[in-house]
Amino acid sequence: MTAPTFTPRVFSGIKPSGGLTLGNYLGAIKRWVDMQSEMESIYCVVDLHAITVWQDPAELKNGTREIAAGMLASGIDPAKSILFNQSQVPEHAQLAWIFNCVARLGWMNRMTQFKDKAGSNAEKASLGLYAYPSLMAADILLYHATHVPVGEDQKQHVELTRDIASKFNHDFKRDFFPITEPVIDGPATRVMNLRDGSKKMSKSGESDMERINMLDDADTIAKKFKKAKTDPAPLPETVDGLKDRAEARNLVEIYAALSDTTPEAVIADYPGAGWGTFKPALADLAVSKLAPISDEMKRLLNDPAEIDRTLAAGAQKARAIAAPVLDETYDIVGLLRG
Ligand code: TYM
Repeated sequence: MTAPTFTPRVFSGIKPSGGLTLGNYLGAIKRWVDMQSEMESIYCVVDLHAITVWQDPAELKNGTREIAAGMLASGIDPAKSILFNQSQVPEHAQLAWIFNCVARLGWMNRMTQFKDKAGSNAEKASLGLYAYPSLMAADILLYHATHVPVGEDQKQHVELTRDIASKFNHDFKRDFFPITEPVIDGPATRVMNLRDGSKKMSKSGESDMERINMLDDADTIAKKFKKAKTDPAPLPETVDGLKDRAEARNLVEIYAALSDTTPEAVIADYPGAGWGTFKPALADLAVSKLAPISDEMKRLLNDPAEIDRTLAAGAQKARAIAAPVLDETYDIVGLLRG
């Protein structure tokens, strides 16, 4: 087989299950904004993924709009990128079925995120939660995406996507799907929980104090950083001193990501600083970067119909790419079409 060259194309997605967090922004959206100027980019609010766990129907619609508003307010430009919600492009679910027949049970059983989410009660988890990574592979490969910018927690899913693409190409003796690259870089690929540096910051964590929400006001942001757990030692003189200090490292990485610099540069600016100095500086920085985004989100959310129109227009553009790929997949697999 001669390997075809695939046009560079970015795909990434975010679940509308709960509000947007600083982890989503720094680990994903902020970098998507940069990438949209470098490559053709497709960004998706993955509502079909959200319903793998129970979602209140009215909240799901509003959650979808909130994520879209967050992406737009952060700088995703619908004139440059395709922005839509997954369920408006039925080809995602159709390709996912094909991939359910390609992916092996053994592969799915290794997915750590399923184990984390299903917890000790896996018998009660939905079949959708188990098959989730296969739908994610469909999201990516439906557009022949070559680059998938994500946070560290999605790495295993992108690797599974590569396995599914390879097996499909091998089984059908065609180099049809690209072997996608995860793009996991920058200082904040894993933003941690503010109350427990061993867990990632997530939308669904128990306490609101453990995360920064993109819609938090300035006082709340300041309070959360002030109360963020740390060890008693001041900041070190060099980044090596952050080793084994998960909470301290997390706050330095957040600072670095918000100010578009590196942890080394942050430590160089605050060598040996105490938390009484660093935490307020971090809070001020976060408010200065996040307030314009949350103000714009609130403005956009005042006109939900406009967000709905933007997503519907994006879905049309997405379908124009997705439908021919699905058609060809059906042909390759041997599914008869009129
Ligand atoms: P989701 O909705 O959990 O998160 C969306 C994006 O935010 C990143 N992220 C983080 N990055 C750094 N630190 C954190 N604490 C943090 N929390 C979240 C995630 O890594 C992700 O990039 N399965 C995906 C959604 C998805 C997808 C896709 C992604 C569905 N199909 C296809 C890429 C391509 C998810 O649940 O992301």
